Amino acid sequence: MSIVMETERLLLRPWRESDAEILFKYAKDPAVGPAAGWPPHTSVEESLEIIRTVFSAPETYAVVLKQIGEPVGSCGVMFADGTHSAAIVDGEGEIGYWIGVPHWGKGYIPEAVNALIARSFNVLGLSALWIGYYDGNRKSSRVAEKCGFTYHHSESGRQVFDGECRTEHFMRLERAAYVTDVKLRLVHEDKERYMDMLLVGDEQESMARRYLPSCALYAVSAGGLEIGVCAVDESGEGCVEIKNIAIIEGFRRKGYGRAVLGMIADMYPGHKLKAGTGEVPSTVGFYKACGFAYSSRVPDFFTDNYDHAIIEDGVQLKDMVYYELQR
Ligand SMILES: CC(C)(COP(=O)(O)OP(=O)(O)OC[C@H]1O[C@@H](n2cnc3c(N)ncnc32)[C@H](O)[C@@H]1OP(=O)(O)O)[C@@H](O)C(=O)NCCC(=O)NCCS
Repeated sequence: MSIVMETERLLLRPWRESDAEILFKYAKDPAVGPAAGWPPHTSVEESLEIIRTVFSAPETYAVVLKQIGEPVGSCGVMFADGTHSAAIVDGEGEIGYWIGVPHWGKGYIPEAVNALIARSFNVLGLSALWIGYYDGNRKSSRVAEKCGFTYHHSESGRQVFDGECRTEHFMRLERAAYVTDVKLRLVHEDKERYMDMLLVGDEQESMARRYLPSCALYAVSAGGLEIGVCAVDESGEGCVEIKNIAIIEGFRRKGYGRAVLGMIADMYPGHKLKAGTGEVPSTVGFYKACGFAYSSRVPDFFTDNYDHAIIEDGVQLKDMVYYELQR
């Protein structure tokens, strides 16, 4: 199933039939398709047909520039049954991409490919990824290099749409070699945009709204894909408090939460770092595993301040318990 992914400048979302005209605008250009092995589109109807057939495959995404709100290219992961490297096996994928000429040279495709890599390894559970490019397509090989792929092998005599025979080079990235690059970005504008993620860590919106305006809000990304948030109250003297930390489903238990706490601790050297939470094994287990120890409690915090019973792991939250990093 394809989902919607967000990176700093892009949305990756399934193609829609209503995208046919925009697709045609870019895909009719002879500078785009032939380099990737497909013929330029000849009509809006043909583009519509491609959306209905080729682009409806799972894990195929329109690359939408957030700034203009429309697709400028396409990217996706194909699996062992639908791809063309002779070396691909079950459990591996091949990434394909293109972008319209006016948008070349801005790093959009590496940004999109990094998101696909994160999803492929962390959510789809693939063990390796391939990128194939035809001899001479330096732009495409640069994307693969920038995203950590290395040369694997070449296959000659590969026929493309117009009967021409070309040599195709294949680059490979193994899951084990993929170093996830976790980043925190301080959100200055429109903190509300992260409300859905904040609600994962604190389910009552009115409570999240109490601290959101005065907190430093960090967006967490891995490989360019936004995967979580962390809200930090910096107002205490010599003490900072984590008000909310959330990593989205599919990315949990992979060490991202621990990495975030480590980065926050490094950002506030010489400060006490504490976190308040309900008393449930999962979050308490998480903080303990990250070097925090119990420090205090506010009795009945959840029962007094929330307008409904908050149940986590089958337990109704009552007291707020504070844990503090043992530096
Ligand atoms: C709590 C949360 C932020 C942890 O993030 P994460 O990326 O999954 O955590 P990590 O993978 O870094 O976990 C580090 C260690 O914490 C412990 N831990 C994490 N989740 C745990 C759980 N559900 N139960 C028990 N221990 C857990 C483990 O020891 C883990 O190491 P391990 O996987 O090698 O055993 C994440 O699960 C989440 O977003 N949950 C929903 C929101 C929430 O409850 N936020 C906290 C309240 S504000």
